[in-house]
Formats: sequence, C-alpha cells, structure tokens
Amino acid sequence: MAKPLIAGNWKMHGTAVEAAALARQLVENEHSCAAVQLAIFPPILHVGLVALELSGSSIALGAQNMSEHESGAFTGEVSADMLKEAGCTYTLVGHSERRTLFGEVDGTVADKFEIAQRSGLVPILCVGETLQQRQQGLTLAVIAEQINTVRKKVGLKNICRGVVAYEPVWAIGTGEVASPEQAQLVHRAIRELLGPGGVSTSLLYGGSVKASNAAELFAQPDIDGGLVGGASLEADEFLKIAQLMT
Ligand code: PGA
Repeated sequence: MAKPLIAGNWKMHGTAVEAAALARQLVENEHSCAAVQLAIFPPILHVGLVALELSGSSIALGAQNMSEHESGAFTGEVSADMLKEAGCTYTLVGHSERRTLFGEVDGTVADKFEIAQRSGLVPILCVGETLQQRQQGLTLAVIAEQINTVRKKVGLKNICRGVVAYEPVWAIGTGEVASPEQAQLVHRAIRELLGPGGVSTSLLYGGSVKASNAAELFAQPDIDGGLVGGASLEADEFLKIAQLMT
C-alpha cells in the first residue's frame, strides 16, 4: 500500500526566496512525518528552484496546472513534458479555481488528465460541488459527471492510476470545512464510482484543512490524504497536518 499523500498547493503566493525557504524548512523536517508522502505545488515559476531544494529529499514536486496540449503555439502555457523534465511527479488537474475563474470545463480537464499520464505525471483530479449545487441536492451527481467525463476519455483503469481530490468549492479558502461525515459520504461515492480498481486509488480531501480539523477528516475510512491550500504556506502547520495522517 502506498504511503498516504499530503499535498500542499501554494497557489499564487510567495517570492522565489520565500518558496526556496519554505521548501528548505520542509526538507529539514521531513523526518517528522516519514510515514507520509509529502508533495508540494509551488507557483510554476518557482518549480525549478524548489526542485533544487528538494534534491535528495523524498518530498515530491507537483504543478498546479498544465496545458491540455502536448506542445505548439500556445502562448503562456506550460506542457506536461516540461513539468516532467523540471522534476514534477504530480500535477493538479481541474482545481476549482481553474474551473470557476479560468473557464476550464470537464472536457479540458479530461484532456489534461490524459496528457499528464502520457508524460509520466500522476494527475490529481480535483472535483467538487458549489454551495448552490449542494443545497439543491446535486453533490453526488456533479461529482459523478466530473469523474465520468474523464473516465470516458481515459478509461476507468487510468483514472484509478491517478489521484482524486474531493474539494467542495464552498470549503476552499473559506475556513468552512466539510464535516467528516459529509466528506466521507462523497469519498465513499467516489470509491464506488471507480469500481474494484479504485480500492487502491488515493482519495484526498481538500478545503480549509488545518491541523485543528485534519485528524477527524483523516480518520474517515475513505479519506486517504489531504490537499492543503492556505495551511501549506507555513511549514510547521503543514508538517503538523501530515503528522496527523499517521
Ligand atoms: P484551502 O485550499 O486549504 O486554502 O481551502 C485548498 C485547495 O484549494 O486545494
């Protein structure tokens, strides 16, 4: 069984010096959570220098986003091959901020998932419902649609080789966390959607995870790890969260 994954999404925060310092702090203390696979997702411009800080450590590197195209005239974009070459193991695909702020639709997310795997990256497929969808009782239907579009493109077996992160949109960056029961219910449903191959797929919870709420989330049977935003910007807090996974 793979180690549980705790991923830190730094979003668009920090200077190069701050990114290097944060990575260094994590490397210096990674022994405190040896039972967990840590992964960090710096802003794209800092990926190269963070890779240098991580060399020789077991902390993995990931990207927050990538192009759905392999290469070509796509000004401003970064390809999966480039990320792989820069030392990334993982990439997020379909983070809710990409979906809501940058108009990424399920079809684009599916293309990204496919290209990420083709380049040897492990895609972390982010799914989640808005508050309005939850209030309308659409949570499981929305999640199923998001997953099924990717399934149609790459097949169930390939989704199961990736990672799925359930991140309710209303819980991201809001301080409002899903209750352990709410999160478990959706994680269970995702596990069922993935079928027998999904038994060993890592299912992460994300959305206002902190050291003060992580233990009860991680205690749920179908929550295998976390995708942490704001709380990953402080080494101590991020490491504390990771320690709660063990
Ligand atoms: P948050 O972000 O922990 O700040 O809510 C999570 C995410 O966006 O992945």
